[in-house]
Amino acid sequence: MKPTNTSITLAPMTTLKISDGLVKDDVLVVAIVSTNTKGAIAIESGDLAMDSKSLLASLVEMGATGTVDEVIKVPGGPARMMVFTGLGAKSSTYSHETLRRAAGSAARALTGNAGATFALPTHNLEGVSAVAEGAALGAYVFNDFRGSTKSEQKAALKSATVYSKLAGKSEAKAVIKRAGIIAKYTHLVRDLVNTPPSHLTPDSFTKKLTASFKGAGGLKAGLKVTIWDEKQLKSQGFGGIIGVGQGSANPPRLLHITYTPKVKDVKRYAFVGKGITFDTGGLNLKPGLGMEAMKSDMSGAAAVCAATLAIAELGLPIAIECWAPLAENMPSDTATRPSDIITIFGGKTVEVLNPDAEGRLVLADGLVKAQTSKNKLDGIIDVATLTGAQVIALGTRTSAVMSNNQSFSDAFIAASKDAGEQFWPMPLPIELRASLDSPVADLANIGDKNGGMMVAGLFLKDFVSDELPWLHLDIAGPAYNQGKAHGYTPVGGTGVSMRSLVRLVEQA
Ligand code: BES
Ligand code: MN
Ligand code: ZN
Repeated sequence: MKPTNTSITLAPMTTLKISDGLVKDDVLVVAIVSTNTKGAIAIESGDLAMDSKSLLASLVEMGATGTVDEVIKVPGGPARMMVFTGLGAKSSTYSHETLRRAAGSAARALTGNAGATFALPTHNLEGVSAVAEGAALGAYVFNDFRGSTKSEQKAALKSATVYSKLAGKSEAKAVIKRAGIIAKYTHLVRDLVNTPPSHLTPDSFTKKLTASFKGAGGLKAGLKVTIWDEKQLKSQGFGGIIGVGQGSANPPRLLHITYTPKVKDVKRYAFVGKGITFDTGGLNLKPGLGMEAMKSDMSGAAAVCAATLAIAELGLPIAIECWAPLAENMPSDTATRPSDIITIFGGKTVEVLNPDAEGRLVLADGLVKAQTSKNKLDGIIDVATLTGAQVIALGTRTSAVMSNNQSFSDAFIAASKDAGEQFWPMPLPIELRASLDSPVADLANIGDKNGGMMVAGLFLKDFVSDELPWLHLDIAGPAYNQGKAHGYTPVGGTGVSMRSLVRLVEQA
């Protein structure tokens, strides 16, 4: 199918720069740290030499502590305004994630400002990269549906400059460019997650992605988009996607994006992302309280698609075959009933005991389809807001990795650490698999309640070849921040997993 042409309004991105001089009229961001347990603090301004005595005195006066996520704005100083952002305890080397978060907290506090220079203890280009990323990730607002009052429409920080004596280095430009791309596609994930189901259906998801695909360089960048509509899905046997989507007036879709790098004989990964544009639970209707968070149930699809576009725009030498099975899970007279049996793409049958366990059904179709690739795959990764059990096990800021391949899992965990995302390995205990047995079909879509995250992982494992290295990422909690904003993470869609996927590909 030919890609359709639609425009979307992506929030304008913060311009990133690097400089070894102060930018006129910019706000100046520096760090405060605690130097002992008695509340003493110091200023850290990286490569920028600063006389901080008087500033320090007023900060002490204000009760500044230098803890993480503390942001203090002071008019004047060597710039129009100073912003102090906490790094925690003083150290000779701050982790990249500490720098990323501190830059992000400051950028969030600077919504509505034109420009800020970030003088933080970066030490090297990786530190510069972290600060640039953090600033751009923190500079995010979602105003698509706000009224016309000015205060509600404040724009994100327009320009962020990293102050560094490495500004003249030839690699500096590439580092800044990369940070911009990472932030741009994280923002795409956040925008998609934050867009409510009234404005994001399976069909409009494909249209928004097709529009972004052009921004990533389109065909010239080696990208291709294919979309299956509900008729094609039905006639070609995608029983999972159809079964989940059939209760909705907004018909399901399957979106496929491929990225083929210019260089030949490269590794090839398949990505599959859960794309439930809204999960009511279907006939197993979820309680009203908190159901609104289920607009985030397409976070996996958004993350894999955005990562594919980012990988293309970065021109990385790995081929990607990205799949997003998209459906809206609604209760209606056409919805799948508990006890219905559906046939997943490829022929396995599933007894749908609980239509609220829908993610695994669309993913099963996606995983099987992905493995029919005419090209040999070196790995397959699915990403999903799959289970409430994930949130119970690991909380709202740590995602889970399940796998059939230890070294692939290790490589991913290492990449996620680098990217500054928290992932933790979980097992797939084989004894739990029996709970998915069905008396009437090849398997049932629910099993043991205990260890529900792993049971869901085991369900998916049935649809992946044992020989193919596979990762299952459950991002149910971390995909959507229902608490307070922190670091570079806003309220609402977080974009989680996008950066780890890109990092994994960079390191492959
Ligand atoms: N989308 C939900 C999982 C979810 C829960 C995501 C909380 C984000 C936050 C998923 O489709 C679901 O409903 N899972 C059920 C599975 C159960 C019926 C086996 C769950 O976790 O309750
Ligand atoms: Mn569900
Ligand atoms: Zn769901």
